[in-house]
Amino acid sequence: MARVLGFLLLLVLFFHIAMASDPSPLQDFCVADPNSQVSVNGFACKNPNLVQANDFYFGGLRTKGNTSNAVGSKVSLVSVEQLPGLNTLGISMARVDYEPWGLNPPHVHTRATELFTVLEGTIEVGFVTSNPENRFITKVLQKGDVFVFPKRLVHFQRNIGNTNALAVSTLSSQNPGIVTIANAVFGSKPDISTDILAKAFQTSDHVVENLQLKF
Ligand code: GLV
Ligand code: MN
Repeated sequence: MARVLGFLLLLVLFFHIAMASDPSPLQDFCVADPNSQVSVNGFACKNPNLVQANDFYFGGLRTKGNTSNAVGSKVSLVSVEQLPGLNTLGISMARVDYEPWGLNPPHVHTRATELFTVLEGTIEVGFVTSNPENRFITKVLQKGDVFVFPKRLVHFQRNIGNTNALAVSTLSSQNPGIVTIANAVFGSKPDISTDILAKAFQTSDHVVENLQLKF
């Protein structure tokens, strides 16, 4: 009897776990209708009869992103915001441009795993596992190489060459979410109190104030 009960419990757990993922789409597509007043998880569907080829198209990645900024990189994201046909499909992508030694700084994607492919250049990548190990996993990638950043882990990429580098990423959400660590911690609006950050980072108020001024 105890065995049967145990088996039934396992069965219940299994189905519970199996159903705890994104539901599969129940139709061919659900092009986002940004004008709909209906509030749903994602966007409401545009009338399928009104859908056009351009709803599944984005032409904005033909040219290099503008990397003239403090870190020397630019992520051009193609999520459901840019490409309404992605709604409910659980996928998006990005073009990432780097100046020589440009950095895509440490960040997390709150809703997506990222599959990263180098198209041009040599790029150092890394991510850090969760507490308590905080293991740093890093590798140097060449043109054609692929690397995965698991969902929600802090990761970065840096061009370690003297020429421009280029990569594309595929992300497992129509809306992956990007939290850049330095911006979130030192550039929040309003500021997190200086003394909280000074204690958290085991440094002085002065160092924190300088960082807050930068972000
Ligand atoms: C984009 O978020 C990237 O990490 O390439
Ligand atoms: Mn990323």
